[in-house]
Amino acid sequence: MSKFLIHGGRKLFGELQISAAKNAYLPILAACVLCDGKVELHNYPYYSDTESMCKILSKLGAKLQISDGVLCVDGSSIFSHSIESELASLVRSSIFMLGALLGRFKKAKVAYPGGCEIGARPIDIHLESFRKLGVEVSERHGYIHCDASKMHSGRVVLEFPSVGATESLMMASVLSKGETKILNAAKEPEIVDLQNFLNKMGAKVSGAGSDEVKIEGVKTLNSCSFTPIKDRIIAGTYIIATAMCGGDVTLCGVKPEHLASLIDKLDKTACLIEAKGDKIRVQASGRPLSLGKIETSVYPGLPTDLQAQILALQTISEGSSIICENVFESRFKHVPELIKMGANVAIKDRVAFVRGVPKLYGAAVTGLELRGTAALVLAGLVAEGYTTVSGARHIDRGYHKIEDELSSLGADIQRVED
Ligand code: EPZ
Repeated sequence: MSKFLIHGGRKLFGELQISAAKNAYLPILAACVLCDGKVELHNYPYYSDTESMCKILSKLGAKLQISDGVLCVDGSSIFSHSIESELASLVRSSIFMLGALLGRFKKAKVAYPGGCEIGARPIDIHLESFRKLGVEVSERHGYIHCDASKMHSGRVVLEFPSVGATESLMMASVLSKGETKILNAAKEPEIVDLQNFLNKMGAKVSGAGSDEVKIEGVKTLNSCSFTPIKDRIIAGTYIIATAMCGGDVTLCGVKPEHLASLIDKLDKTACLIEAKGDKIRVQASGRPLSLGKIETSVYPGLPTDLQAQILALQTISEGSSIICENVFESRFKHVPELIKMGANVAIKDRVAFVRGVPKLYGAAVTGLELRGTAALVLAGLVAEGYTTVSGARHIDRGYHKIEDELSSLGADIQRVED
């Protein structure tokens, strides 16, 4: 097991190319099941979650090859509609396979998904939506069995704008006769990217990015080449890191509008942010001011995937702040570890009350899930002395060699074996 060893106190300077979006790549990898030809995906990101999804695709029979950052998926040899638990439990996004397998085979047998320690992660909205479209769904012995032989088009209203349920439904419907409408759909940029990918293969999907997605079923999907968007959460993580450490950093490749809520919140309070084209420049010096009340919400609101990183920023900001986590029910596992470093935080249900302190102190802390562990690394960058962050494997799920990227900006961080 590896951990990070960080010597805090360095400012960050330089320019960084942001890698492809994990949460765009994962549903797009699942959607490759829908095409019985070859698909080329560019800027392949070496996150462990994308590696896990590639393992699932291979197990289903697909042939995968990566060269020069281009992943080629040949779905013509996919023969199986079943995902065993040891693979499905690796990632939450294994549940997206359900929709893709139903789209291609009209049946699926998928073990319950894995994912982060941030809540129960139920899939009731996914399954309820499939039932509304005539899919027979039964759950037994840890598996979800679906029979879509009588699946029909129609209208589904999501009780919550679930990202995964929206994506799963899009994939299940693209090859089914007639028009399907998803109301109260999630509006994340990664859903627009999935729509663009499906349409590149010949699907007829529209409305992604709004709360109503329309899918006109087609007979087959064809081979294509596609470049998924860049990762707005990684970019947001580094914007926050610069606001905490001070310095002058430019992030390249990510669309500023995908981070509008964060930029509006931080600009002129925690740092200065200039967004031009696909570049975001962050300048920071002195102690950031508190952001006051912070509410995470669905897109285009403040992303829950940046809550832990924003909380780390608030622990050293001037003044007090209140952070409400409105999307997941237990996404504060990083707080006890930040308190070990001198943070002043109290938690009540889904609300964190933070009183900013002038400095944090290096300590031995443990990450328990992807974004919370990233928050501990940010705290280590700004803490006095040395910090070790155990649980590097959590970060590797959604960042590629974060230690190299931060070192390239001047941070003193290295990966060491436990
Ligand atoms: C996606 O998860 C992302 N993962 C998450 O990113 C992200 O935090 C989340 O969307 C919200 O933006 C991927 O895209 C692979 P949801 P997903 O369905 O689809 C409840 C990261 O750090 N819900 O929108 O699982 C659920 O419990 C990860 O990159 C149900 O109750 O999120 C949660 O409270 C973490 N029943 C809320 O909805 C369901 O059937 C949002 O979940 C489905 C969801």
